[in-house]
Amino acid sequence: MLILSIETSCDETAAAVTRDGRTVLSSSVYSQIATHAEYGGVVPEIASRRHVEKLCAVADSAVAQAGVAKSELDAVAVTAAPGLIGALLTGLSFAKGAALALDVPLIPVHHIKGHIAANYIAFPELTPPFLAVVISGGNTLFCDVRDYDDVRVLGGTRDDAAGEAFDKTARVLGYPYPGGRELDELARTAPAGVPSIPLPRPAFPDAPLDCSFSGLKTAVVNLVHTAAQKGEPVDAPVLARSICEAVTDVLTARAGIALDLTGYGKLALAGGVAANSFVRDGMRAMAAARGAALFVPPPSLCGDNAAMIGCAGYYAFLAGVRASAGQNAYATMSPEERF
Ligand code: KG4
Repeated sequence: MLILSIETSCDETAAAVTRDGRTVLSSSVYSQIATHAEYGGVVPEIASRRHVEKLCAVADSAVAQAGVAKSELDAVAVTAAPGLIGALLTGLSFAKGAALALDVPLIPVHHIKGHIAANYIAFPELTPPFLAVVISGGNTLFCDVRDYDDVRVLGGTRDDAAGEAFDKTARVLGYPYPGGRELDELARTAPAGVPSIPLPRPAFPDAPLDCSFSGLKTAVVNLVHTAAQKGEPVDAPVLARSICEAVTDVLTARAGIALDLTGYGKLALAGGVAANSFVRDGMRAMAAARGAALFVPPPSLCGDNAAMIGCAGYYAFLAGVRASAGQNAYATMSPEERF
């Protein structure tokens, strides 16, 4: 089954063609990062307008690179939630038009299920059930993946996402948006002999799988501003390493609890923050200590892309999910909900 998939939930305009879910024939991603970097974060209205400008060319290039005729496409899959509402609507409207013109079904896809599905593309042997840790710029979720189209949320952030914490602390250290990757690289240059700076790692005894990153963000901002007011220097590499360690400790502790709770022997990471080297190392050690297998997709599949939407769309299609002409987009929606 050939699926044309569209992803426009945030600041990547992406299209892909996949065969039977797991085989990627093409994947085109136009990143708007340079546009938004000027403002220090994503400007929703600008993101929507840029999607409108780029979508046709990105989708055309995905079909051309796949080497298939448009008439061979069997379905169109599109991210319909969650994300920036205007951005989502551009992709959904485009996908509706494409499905109508091609006379094929339209499949609405949940963005988080897409991130999880990136693992199916990267690891052909991976099958549910397993634990998925979805860590991106907008989401931090610990998910029980019971089946391809059956995801239960075990816990997650109560405020900022892990990626948001990385990006905002990177900004205060002088890096342009998004900043997570630069912070990771800077952290790696910190001398091993210098102790890390204590940073908050809040826990919720009543909800051990929940986490919070807003306190970490505030602590780092205050630390940098106080040092500036006193005219004292900040050891940026050590601070960057301390941030990475704090985020990693919080994420790996929850993932460990979730593995124990579910009894699963498989842990899959997903989302842009899965590219963080401290998070990868921490998860690897935690999984190894429990004898669990760790799956981490390559960076190209961790960030937003449409191939993962095509894969999730395939499994949603098999589960009977279809969009009607009146399909709406939703800024917030749990992956437990169905379209
Ligand atoms: O999944 P993604 O592309 O977009 C969302 O759906 O949000 O994730 C982007 C996030 C950004 O916050 C970015 O800074 C972060 O992933 N990121 C990293 C690293 N690479 C990307 N954060 C920390 N360390 C990295 N190496």
